[in-house]
Amino acid sequence: MQLITLELCHVTAVEEGRALKLETSGLTLAVFNVSGEYFVTDDVCTHGPGSLSESYILDDVVECNFHNGAFNIKTGEVVSAPCTENLKTYPVKIINHHVCIDISQEG
Ligand code: FES
Repeated sequence: MQLITLELCHVTAVEEGRALKLETSGLTLAVFNVSGEYFVTDDVCTHGPGSLSESYILDDVVECNFHNGAFNIKTGEVVSAPCTENLKTYPVKIINHHVCIDISQEG
């Protein structure tokens, strides 16, 4: 198992209060810009097929556009039902103005 750093996008690719969907290394991710701070989560809602990067963002909460369940973008914790399972989050590093995350990979 080794840790690799994935460069996801330039910081200017995600406007404040918005999110960007990215597919890389078998992951489908949402990159959020919350007041100039970047957060990365899985894009797919834990309740169903909702895409969180295409959902409603209010401050640090994203409300799924399928059944209106909501998560805290910073922690991945469920904020409102019908979601019951927290969202996976990835610690972010900014390297040379790019949003990056570390992931473990077999090898
Ligand atoms: S798919 Fe997201 S709340 Fe149901």
